[in-house]
Amino acid sequence: MASAEELKRAAGEAAVGLVEDGMCLGIGTGSTAEAFIRALAEKVRGGLKITGVATSERTERLCQELAIPMATLETLPQLDLTVDGADEIDRELRLVKGGGGALLREKIVAAASKRMLVVADETKLVETLGAFPLPIEINGFGMIATYLAIQAAAKGLGLSCELTLRRSGEAPFITDSGHLILDASFGRIPDPQALSRALHDVPGVVEHGLFLGLATEALVATSDGIRHLRA
Ligand code: A5P
Repeated sequence: MASAEELKRAAGEAAVGLVEDGMCLGIGTGSTAEAFIRALAEKVRGGLKITGVATSERTERLCQELAIPMATLETLPQLDLTVDGADEIDRELRLVKGGGGALLREKIVAAASKRMLVVADETKLVETLGAFPLPIEINGFGMIATYLAIQAAAKGLGLSCELTLRRSGEAPFITDSGHLILDASFGRIPDPQALSRALHDVPGVVEHGLFLGLATEALVATSDGIRHLRA
């Protein structure tokens, strides 16, 4: 039985096989994305030519440490491929993301890419999204009003949720863009599209971790090998 670490590494290494010379590449955040970054750095050392755009400050630092050529979305606004992890993946390749707090930049980068490849181990595959608390990035202004509006929006869809302000030690967790995160435990999200729309209608919501219609393929590492799923 392979460990979670080994599966993440296998997914990351398999993803590098889909990277082509000359690509402009969105580079994800999280432990599985990090396995990809390390495998990518090895290929770059071997002569692969790519330019990366990071989905977080943390990824930017790691890529620079590993001498992966980097640019920004300002200078490279259209990308060929983004490779990123996920917290949950359903059979239509709808995702919950943002466990690492980078969902806003991850979504902007994925949306700027022709293809989004998800790298994951098999524990991320689910029948229905929602067991993993959905990260919702909110503006700090009027936080309580936003909290109440999210609860009302969920109730309007027949969902109940427990909202927890994400912390980093004693202090609230602050995203790379200076916002807060509420983690919303829905248990099940039967209609992700409806929830996505309802959350976007709340003025204080900056973005949420439902990635719908963005992932085009996934490499899922299992103890029996890699499964290549396509949307
Ligand atoms: C980061 O904000 C997330 O979206 C990650 O991609 C996601 O949490 C998966 O992370 P792991 O690969 O560490 O499980």
